[in-house]
Amino acid sequence: MKMNFIKVKDYNALSVHAAEIICAQVNSKPNSVLGLATGSTPIGAYEQIREMYKRGEVDFSAVKTINLDEYVGLSPENAQSYRYFMNNQLFNGINIAKENTHLPDGMSNTVDDECARYERLIDSLGPIDLQLLGIGNNGHIGFNEPGDFFIKECHCTQLAAKTIEANSRFFDTIDEVPKKAITVGMGTVMAAKKVLLIAAGKEKAEIINKALTGKITPQVPASILQFHADLTVVVSP
Ligand code: PGA
Repeated sequence: MKMNFIKVKDYNALSVHAAEIICAQVNSKPNSVLGLATGSTPIGAYEQIREMYKRGEVDFSAVKTINLDEYVGLSPENAQSYRYFMNNQLFNGINIAKENTHLPDGMSNTVDDECARYERLIDSLGPIDLQLLGIGNNGHIGFNEPGDFFIKECHCTQLAAKTIEANSRFFDTIDEVPKKAITVGMGTVMAAKKVLLIAAGKEKAEIINKALTGKITPQVPASILQFHADLTVVVSP
């Protein structure tokens, strides 16, 4: 087991460091499969990756990406959807073909079928070479919320009240936050060859500490990462 814990001085340093790790992965294996995350934390890293691409330091033409999750009921045109976020924050600014970028379809009428499709897709493309993760205030990764057990495969989940509250900052009112999401399961995250977990700020420092040094329990989903064979954690104040 290898855990590499890196504390940097600020959010900008965290973003630069994460971007460098991701681009180094692509440079060492141009057809890498990247597992990607949404949320506030990776925004700076995605900006740095766009800059590195512009400077000619990295080529995404053979890369494939698999995102962690998507809200149920939001279309790709909805500015709060994760597809919209990814296009805007990363994909439109680098040379990746859209057909090589994957997220669950939040508009599918048959959510269970969509979960099964996404799981098959992951099976066909994976294992993921490098999985980028943020962490929720409640320890979730992707939308694997605290619960009585870890779920291995892609599934539809009811968002925790704490998650709805945290994510309401992106919506006009809390009532607009979707109550359900499709997320990859812990099996996908744990099968990734490398995991890069990033977290910024005081509140995240507490949950990071609990997840990485506390009991391994589905009540703190990220705690399972203590079992991962190649985990890098980058944190900033
Ligand atoms: P954040 O979310 O980066 O917006 O804090 C992280 C997460 O919920 O996984």
